[in-house]
Amino acid sequence: MEIPVGLGRVLVIVPTYNERDNIEGIVGRVRETAPPVDVLVVDDASPDGTGDLADAMAAADGQVKVLHRTGKAGLGAAYIAGFRWAAEHGYDVMVEMDADGSHQPEELPRLLAALEDADLVIGARWVPGGKVLNWPKRREALSRGANTYARLMLGFHLHDATGGYRAFRAATLDKIGLEGVESRGYCFQIDLALRALQQGLRVVEVPITFVERVHGTSKMSRDVMAEAALRITQWGVADRVGRLRGPR
Ligand code: GDD
Ligand code: MN
Repeated sequence: MEIPVGLGRVLVIVPTYNERDNIEGIVGRVRETAPPVDVLVVDDASPDGTGDLADAMAAADGQVKVLHRTGKAGLGAAYIAGFRWAAEHGYDVMVEMDADGSHQPEELPRLLAALEDADLVIGARWVPGGKVLNWPKRREALSRGANTYARLMLGFHLHDATGGYRAFRAATLDKIGLEGVESRGYCFQIDLALRALQQGLRVVEVPITFVERVHGTSKMSRDVMAEAALRITQWGVADRVGRLRGPR
């Protein structure tokens, strides 16, 4: 499957924190699957040397770029920095992809094809045709629960609003306006999906097969979960209060 040329210049943004054993594989697979597409690694000064490996890849391949940040500041903050970089460098499409192989680069052409008729495409696990390989039952329950809670609280139709394999049009990020985004951890994903819907943009879910990482460890933490639970509740309450006050 080809990358649709009408979309313009595409950048895959890969945030990394201690992904030494994954970074070369994932970048190599993107470059092989989608040769016209560039890759930006956003590394938060990983102690394991991921940033140095990324620099070596960038030195060998002009389509690989690296953004070094000074310390671990969360997935959301890394993506905001990556989106800014992409906008400054004139990209038309920004893709989010985990470094650990959970988001298969081979599925990228399908996400981009869907973006031809959408403003934001989310690779979704919890839709018909979507799958998760090798996740413990506990982790599946957490993700399904978070998504059900978000759907009920926020009143949208999305089934995988936390999913982190996505394609945005640059214009979508412009309309969302990243200045107001405070989410730091994984609830960043819900935040952006909600903002896109509030702007009346077309958000489409396409089924993906999510493959649990083989190397390294997840950065999911109690803090990440607590931030998500708190913010979903706040957004949901704000929305209900807004509706009680009547039409805007
Ligand atoms: N730069 C940077 N800074 N990268 C980070 C940080 C950070 O603070 N925290 C995590 N990452 C990177 C990881 O190195 C990895 O490439 C990617 O973000 C996802 O992190 P994981 O730790 O592998 O996430 P997960 O597998 O537990 O979570 C998956 O599911 C979440 C919930 O559905 C991901 O797909 C998330 O995107 C998704 O929100
Ligand atoms: Mn992961």
